[in-house]
Amino acid sequence: MFGNLETLPPDPILGVTAAFRADPDPGKVDLGVGVYRDIEGNTPVPAAVREAERRLLAGQSSKTYVGPAGNLDFNERIVALALGPLSGQLRERTATIQTVGGCGALRIGAELIRASAPGAVIHVSDPTWANHEPLVGSSGLALQRYPYYDPATRGVAFERMIDHLDRLPAGEVVLLHACCHNPTGADLDPQQWAAVADVLERRKLVPYVDLAYQGFGDDLETDVAGLRMLAARLPTLLLAISCSKNFGLYRERAGALAIVAESAAAARAIATHQARTARRMYSMPPDHGAAIAARLLGDAGLRQSWQEEVTAMVARMKELRRLLAEQLAARRPDLDFSWLVRHRGMFSLLGLEPAAIVALREVEHVYVPPDGRINVAGVSHANMDRVADSLARVLARPRPD
Ligand code: LMR
Repeated sequence: MFGNLETLPPDPILGVTAAFRADPDPGKVDLGVGVYRDIEGNTPVPAAVREAERRLLAGQSSKTYVGPAGNLDFNERIVALALGPLSGQLRERTATIQTVGGCGALRIGAELIRASAPGAVIHVSDPTWANHEPLVGSSGLALQRYPYYDPATRGVAFERMIDHLDRLPAGEVVLLHACCHNPTGADLDPQQWAAVADVLERRKLVPYVDLAYQGFGDDLETDVAGLRMLAARLPTLLLAISCSKNFGLYRERAGALAIVAESAAAARAIATHQARTARRMYSMPPDHGAAIAARLLGDAGLRQSWQEEVTAMVARMKELRRLLAEQLAARRPDLDFSWLVRHRGMFSLLGLEPAAIVALREVEHVYVPPDGRINVAGVSHANMDRVADSLARVLARPRPD
């Protein structure tokens, strides 16, 4: 048994963290895995989250099972955070399950699609988060890509995207990033979201929205305006929510899968399938992270201070984007870096050749995933010069023939 298994190459994102940790260079910089970092380079637990956790521990009287659907208060509050007042209007038509992070939500959603429509194809953006295809594709569903990013403009290849979606057969699924597109940082604007809603409606396509960065683009409301537009207009929608980034709950694996169905009866049936799928895969989700988020969202004071902390995080990322663009422009006046400021969230693509990405790691000790994505939150005032110098040098490397 197992003798035929070969050693796998490192994960494209988590492998960067491992390589970074193994590098003895004292000035090394990690711009790899998508975690928020503060001015000291730490990934803090927001104070409001810490306080919610303290209250939770003080009041917790049992650690008995939570059940396959997880914490019902969490489910209701996290969907209300995403959908706003619409969540009340859609309550009867929504089936929600607490999941093992946003990844667990994506995977359970894919399993349910496969159970219901095994021939359905899931269309993902080109490019997309490095784990989307393995995670969703492991369900056995076929995946295809739709045009999304234009490296020439460093923006959304919108006409090509719409044109492509407009040719898809009814019933296929379109995976969309609600905000802070990973890895490009290029988001749809409100008019573009409206056009996407039009084409999904017209072609009878099913949106599957990945919401991993609510609050990290502009703010907690603006970042979900497109999602809410789809939820208001489309008969069916899948929503995978992650609490890793905005609540800083990464290792607690708190997330949710909400499915808005055509009818209340369909939602009730879906809820039974969600629970059975979870039961067959891992039985029940962990309690802690979701219980913290539920407490926080249920307390007006904690919620207010958490919102202020999220606002401070996004302000820092925007400021880092501005400073990095300024520093790079000073070193490379021949190049345009305005895209760094236009992009939203933690990520942008550098647009480097593979050889330059290797040089960045091996010569400059600056670590990015193989697609050349940078996590802007990994830049700090302390490493800004080193990052800008290194990027300016690798951007200067001649393209290989
Ligand atoms: C990332 O994109 O770096 C994060 O979502 C972390 C991960 O699991 O890949």
